Amino acid sequence: MTILLAGGAGYIGSHTAVSLLEAGHDVVIVDNYINSSPAAVDRVEELTGRTVTRYRADVTDKAAMTAIFAENTIDCVIHFAGLKAVGESGRVPLRYYRNNLDTTLTLLECMAAAGVKRIVFSSSATVYGDENPVPYVETMRRGGSSHPYGWTKIMMEQIFEDTAKADSDLSVVLLRYFNPIGAHPSGRLGEDPRGVPNNLMPYITQVAVGRRDRLTVFGGDYPTPDGTCRRDYLHIMDLAEGHLRAVEYAMAHTGTEVFNLGTGTPYSVLEIVHAFESASGVAIPCTIGPRRPGDLPQFWADPSKAERVLGWKARRSLEDMCRDSWNWQRQNPMGYGENKE
Ligand code: NAD
Ligand code: UD1
Repeated sequence: MTILLAGGAGYIGSHTAVSLLEAGHDVVIVDNYINSSPAAVDRVEELTGRTVTRYRADVTDKAAMTAIFAENTIDCVIHFAGLKAVGESGRVPLRYYRNNLDTTLTLLECMAAAGVKRIVFSSSATVYGDENPVPYVETMRRGGSSHPYGWTKIMMEQIFEDTAKADSDLSVVLLRYFNPIGAHPSGRLGEDPRGVPNNLMPYITQVAVGRRDRLTVFGGDYPTPDGTCRRDYLHIMDLAEGHLRAVEYAMAHTGTEVFNLGTGTPYSVLEIVHAFESASGVAIPCTIGPRRPGDLPQFWADPSKAERVLGWKARRSLEDMCRDSWNWQRQNPMGYGENKE
């Protein structure tokens, strides 16, 4: 099959590309590199010994996307292309609504015009909002969000559902990711945020490699066993393999289906720090600071539907996640080398 990865040069897309290529599929990557580097695609090719068809284009550019759909026979689309920094989304909400909604609308319109009927979408655990009890189950209603990024995911899920309702041939798989960390075990691919990392693991690895002095733990007085927030961290290669299963599912079904991709086991911020320290042998200086606005005390997935329906289960351990994150950062202290700091 030929799979188009919109935003495929990014953290999740590049690892997914490796899994798809290794499974024998062909991959077309469309990315404007607003938050990634073409070097990631070079490394996908190097790791797999396969060639990726690639386009530098904005997924909101309908003329460019129409031409890409005309030049390639696409069996399925995976839509990763979006902006994802929660704090920034509050400062420039229109940029987030414009980019995230427009990439989705443009892809769906181009797919309709080209007769492409299968799409897998990068949604997020954030759509459960703060009203649902843990663990989150797919049957729960979507909640609201405290930030525009979260609202874009909620709105895009609705757009997909409505579009699939109106076209009975369309197949939509909404994947609600929990907290992906880790890297390809080779250390050649990994997470390379621009500027100061928002997310926990890249911050820890940048402290470990000497780019930052110390980690600030956002809040030590939550109602959790050690007072720090708990999340469901999963290995990026497990997440990548989940996309392979989701594409296979999309090829065989129609309508909309939602899956949590997580391990079902929460770890606290301090547990992650300690696991990283023992996997890497590097001490991470920490200070407990104030809570980060909008953070929930704890959430994790009920991942049983993905196992039951997709045959997917996260297999890699927290030790694997920490070792591979460190292996990537140690080998690539400045990531892909295009950070403008
Ligand atoms: P990323 O920023 O590394 O990847 C997104 C990619 O999309 C980047 O390569 C970026 O350059 C590209 N892109 C953005 N807007 C584009 C546009 N208009 N045209 C072309 N390319 C565009 O992020 P990621 O971590 O790989 O996340 C992928 C998707 O998964 C995003 O939609 C994100 O919201 C979602 N998600 C991520 C996480 C996470 O923890 N990483 C959690 C839940 C959901
Ligand atoms: C955040 C987003 C979420 C998004 C996800 C993946 C918020 C409120 N939520 O989730 O919408 O889908 O990223 O991009 O931003 N932490 C520290 N110090 C740090 C960084 C993080 O203590 O320097 C803590 C956080 O408080 C949190 C945990 O580490 O408890 C994980 O943080 P992060 O990696 O940002 O993920 P989420 O908060 O789950």
